[in-house]
Amino acid sequence: MIGIGVDYYPEHWDRELWEEDARLMKESGVNVVRMAEFAWCRMEPEEGRFDFGWLDDAIDLFQRNGIQVVLGVPTMTPPAWLTQRYPDVLPDLPGQASSRPGVRGHRCYNSPSMRRFTRIITERMAMRYGKHPAVIGWQTDNEFMLHMCRCRHCKNGFVEWLRNEYGTLERLNREWGTVVWSGEFSDWEQIGLHETPERYMNPSLLLDYRRFQSESVVNFQRVQVEEIRKHSEGQWITHNTWTAPLPLDLAALYGELDFASIDYYPASSADKAVSNPYSGALLLDLIRGIKGKNFWVMEQYGGPPGSWMPTWPSPYPGFIRAFAWQSISRGADGVLFFRWRSGVAGAEQFWHGLIDHGNVPGRRLAEFRRFAEEAGALSERLYGSRVENEAAILYDFDSHTALQLQPQVDGFDYYEHMKAVHRSFQKLGIGVDVLHTPDQIASRYKLLVIPSLFVIGEHTAAKIRSFVEQGGTVVATPRTGVKRTNNQCHMLQLPGPLADCFGVRVSEYDPIGPGVHAIQDESGNLYSCGLWNDLLETTSAEPIARHAESFYKGTPAVTRNRLGSGQAYYVGTFPEEAYLRSLFGMIAGETGIEARTDLPEGVHLSRRKRGTESVLFVLNLSREPNAVQLERPMKSLLTGTIAAPNLELEPYGVEILEIDS
Ligand code: GLA
Ligand code: ZN
Repeated sequence: MIGIGVDYYPEHWDRELWEEDARLMKESGVNVVRMAEFAWCRMEPEEGRFDFGWLDDAIDLFQRNGIQVVLGVPTMTPPAWLTQRYPDVLPDLPGQASSRPGVRGHRCYNSPSMRRFTRIITERMAMRYGKHPAVIGWQTDNEFMLHMCRCRHCKNGFVEWLRNEYGTLERLNREWGTVVWSGEFSDWEQIGLHETPERYMNPSLLLDYRRFQSESVVNFQRVQVEEIRKHSEGQWITHNTWTAPLPLDLAALYGELDFASIDYYPASSADKAVSNPYSGALLLDLIRGIKGKNFWVMEQYGGPPGSWMPTWPSPYPGFIRAFAWQSISRGADGVLFFRWRSGVAGAEQFWHGLIDHGNVPGRRLAEFRRFAEEAGALSERLYGSRVENEAAILYDFDSHTALQLQPQVDGFDYYEHMKAVHRSFQKLGIGVDVLHTPDQIASRYKLLVIPSLFVIGEHTAAKIRSFVEQGGTVVATPRTGVKRTNNQCHMLQLPGPLADCFGVRVSEYDPIGPGVHAIQDESGNLYSCGLWNDLLETTSAEPIARHAESFYKGTPAVTRNRLGSGQAYYVGTFPEEAYLRSLFGMIAGETGIEARTDLPEGVHLSRRKRGTESVLFVLNLSREPNAVQLERPMKSLLTGTIAAPNLELEPYGVEILEIDS
């Protein structure tokens, strides 16, 4: 069954309201609620004194109403008694006075007290609810973020991590290149983070520190996972990751969980109305890609966000429903809206829920009801069906992190570049999987893009080379192959270990930043490009576009190499989207991937399949009406009628069609 529901905070409301809320939820189509992820001070009001009576009552109430429950472990909000008595719980974050209860996120993942009390509260919860028939699953913590904590536990933990990783100080000094600026360590105790601005620090140390902190999150989470697994039966565990991709190793974070989850807040403002649905599509593909399987949305946009920023504009009619369908169209098997009702108290009073403070159901709840009714009706058909694509993009935690540390050129951002690549595919109607590790590179993909794959070790290089040799097509962009995994530069001409695969050498590069240059393709078409130009020398590749400006006018800018039974394209600049579309469209033609050039901006296509059954989602995520040409009349699963080949969609219109094969 597709999970359809809301995030609910019984501890915020008088009990009289609970009954009324549960009844209205049920009537509106809610079949699952998420609760308790911040309620530590009510579950354990004093050290060792537990009170689960209220939560028992809330869960039972929902159960009576036929609503299932997901429980959050409340470790993002350690209560006041805990931080008062065990101050090592608090992180020491650069530039921030340590935060206090009533705020959130004020916990160091490496604090022994935090780990100890995390185990206790999780164990108590899991013992009590691990076999409760209404509880279907668990969420660890809430929106983990990487902390650059400098407390003594983190420092000691880091040194231990390094000893494990490098064995000797001599080796560490060599791998980090600490001889530069006389930074060689002669005692493990000398290593740590200081007040020094990061731009003056050793980039190898900084990357390792982030790897260590990312691993600390996973180790912290493991305490929760162990207790839940020990005491539960038939319940799943997930975690809700934050909307923006974080420098957190998501593949590792979700490695021990059953599936991934995301909190999804598409922008409801006019200025982002066109671009944002594409960024959202990337985000959803990225989450599905972590485990290569369906995911949940633990927080879906239910009302205009606000509070610590000016409130966002009210969602256009259809917005709430259409974006919830976008989540499902890209692999969500559960969609929970944040939140049932806007809070009347606390720092987030103006992060609006489906219902406003006045508690009168309005337009937003009505839209939710419509979505819930439709998704409920299609639940059996859609639940567990999969998104399967022939094109993939590799997202790399190490490269993202290293490029955040050293952004290379004014205006460049790794994730923005990923967006441009992904958007180009979406506009061609080509579905894309986002891979998180080179081990996910598989021969079922015909096309793989490795945007700015800055950090490349031997293993990754070998995977990519063999993908091509066996018939795949790979596309690389500038700043690929620059670094070794220890964050030192490869002492090789670029693209470093992949130079032979692409059959080119970057003889020189020109970081042009916000300046605009141009390239010219073989047919003489000019396209603008910017940020960074690689001047290419071909070894075995052939040029397919050349620089059209500056002293290197005429120098190859984009090349194609044949290797084994595959091909490797090197794009030596950041071209405008029209060029990426034309390149990917051409490659799609060569490799037999279906693409279309007539999709109106804002129209998003996606498919879910099970066996021979296939469903096509056509979403108009835009404020304008749009029309899409279908290959033939198809049956609408929403209305049961046959949709004409010229399918007209109203603003934020949704169509779900049956494809018979
Ligand atoms: C995040 C958190 C929620 C809530 C929302 C809205 O997604 O997980 O608890 O704070 O943001 O701000
Ligand atoms: Zn710490």
